[in-house]
Amino acid sequence: MLRLLPLLLLLPVASASPLSTSIGIKYASIPSRFSPPAPSPFDPSLPYDTYGDVCFQNPDTFADAGQPNTTMSEDCLHLNVFTPESTSDSPLPVMFYIHGGGYTQGWSQQLDAAALARTQNAIVVNINYRLGALGFLPLYSLEREDADGATGGMNGVRDQIAALEWVQSNIHHFNGDPGSVTIFGESAGGVSVCYLATTARAEGLFKRAIMESGPCIGPWGFVESPKEAMAAGEAFMLSTGVTSLSKLREMDAEELMLGHHGDLINLSSHDNFLYAAGELPIDRLRAGKLNVDGGDGSMIVGCNTVDSMTMPPWVFMMGKSLPSTSAEFERKAKELFGWGHGGEVADFYLGMYDNATEAYQQVSADICVVCPTRTVVEELAEHIPVYQYLYAGGTADGRASHASELCALFVDDATHGQTCADIMMQDVTPDIEPVLQGYWGSFAAGGKPEGDVAWGEAGAGDFMRIGADTKMEGGGVGSGACEFWQTLKDEGLSEQRLKVACTLA
Ligand SMILES: *[C@@H]1O[C@H](CO)[C@@H](O)[C@H](O)[C@H]1NC(C)=O
Ligand SMILES: *[C@@H]1O[C@H](CO)[C@@H](O)[C@H](O)[C@H]1NC(C)=O
Ligand SMILES: *[C@@H]1O[C@H](CO)[C@@H](O)[C@H](O)[C@H]1NC(C)=O
Repeated sequence: MLRLLPLLLLLPVASASPLSTSIGIKYASIPSRFSPPAPSPFDPSLPYDTYGDVCFQNPDTFADAGQPNTTMSEDCLHLNVFTPESTSDSPLPVMFYIHGGGYTQGWSQQLDAAALARTQNAIVVNINYRLGALGFLPLYSLEREDADGATGGMNGVRDQIAALEWVQSNIHHFNGDPGSVTIFGESAGGVSVCYLATTARAEGLFKRAIMESGPCIGPWGFVESPKEAMAAGEAFMLSTGVTSLSKLREMDAEELMLGHHGDLINLSSHDNFLYAAGELPIDRLRAGKLNVDGGDGSMIVGCNTVDSMTMPPWVFMMGKSLPSTSAEFERKAKELFGWGHGGEVADFYLGMYDNATEAYQQVSADICVVCPTRTVVEELAEHIPVYQYLYAGGTADGRASHASELCALFVDDATHGQTCADIMMQDVTPDIEPVLQGYWGSFAAGGKPEGDVAWGEAGAGDFMRIGADTKMEGGGVGSGACEFWQTLKDEGLSEQRLKVACTLA
């Protein structure tokens, strides 16, 4: 899952606004393919008025996205800074956005950051980072050549760290406060937030974090076994038809990403640098080894009600057919979870939903995103203040799909959200836009989300339902369903089954 997301969100960038934009700033270079990023010098006196190249991604899918006048290259480590007109001299909080796209797709300017910067009086920075095999390929040969013994499996996240270091050194040129940086990201961007919040390598680079629909323990998250991760990397190299690192470096980037090689490495995995071999993000999270403000910061963590690729528009793009009758649901559930557990899944979900298609969509959302999010919140809340949310969209049925909250967060100036809503096949949500933006912006400014409805900490499972009827609820997201899945796991349902189900569902 998570793969196709950002290709769709092609929002025009505002042309006229009381905002200064510096775009296409190069923050790092890549000395040689698959190497860690090397910081680039920054000259604040130069004009920055053209977006940089997009990081190389599968050219077929990129072309389908129809992004006009943008080229792809490997020299793509650029960021953009949106600075609101400020009447005060005191430095502004910085909101640092990491795009999603399953680590294989996406780019910095996909979503229009201007409105968020203006309404929240915050500096918004968005970035490119390396994707697919060019950013996430672990190889033994890379491990041997690297001074730190890093495998290359997290180079894309190391790019994000380089961008955060650029912010620390340079954001004062834009009247930004390097001591008040909030990182936020959705889908693979949310997973990145999870990594950045738990790796010691990002210590001191930000104060707060917002993790949207990307808990790093999803069945689709981190490759837990270093051996498996390395095997996937080596298998990828073989699939390209070469057997050495030097040949892989000589290969044309387009060729490397064509033939869907670019899709093959779609998972982040251990790299001996962000995490020691065998160490997992969730271990550090459980142990409270967090670097949000030296462990004193706070986080917003949440997901959407039907946070699944089985929802429109994804289901249409991926050409999936979903069960439409109870019998079909039951057959599918047994196929995915085994005869006994599949029967229990059918009883549980068909007991809750009249509509078999909607029941199935909820299964996918619960196992892939909602329940992992709940677990991450429970663990985090042991250590720091966490604000939990469930985004329910603007319609009365409260069904919000994967990524749909981005339409309310990044309302484009040109169409006031209509473009995004059209693409996401949902209604424009003008009432929710200021609510969501306001919570995110106040959190970035002061570490606590503020709004008309008071948002309490998640300690006891409390969460904010953000939607047509925004209100606090108890019990945690996915309450009932997640306990049900835990029971199945206790009865022997394997993580591997869930992993496969997330890929297929
Ligand atoms: C792309 O560039 C061409 C040539 O500069 C220009 O005519 C065209 O309007 C641009 N298209 C968009 C959508 O910006
Ligand atoms: C990437 O995703 C595809 C399709 O979802 C899957 O078949 C493949 O095994 C994944 N690659 C890795 C390295 O896990
Ligand atoms: C079931 O739900 C799906 C998805 O929301 C919808 O398209 C379909 O029309 C519904 N079927 C019935 C019989 O209501």
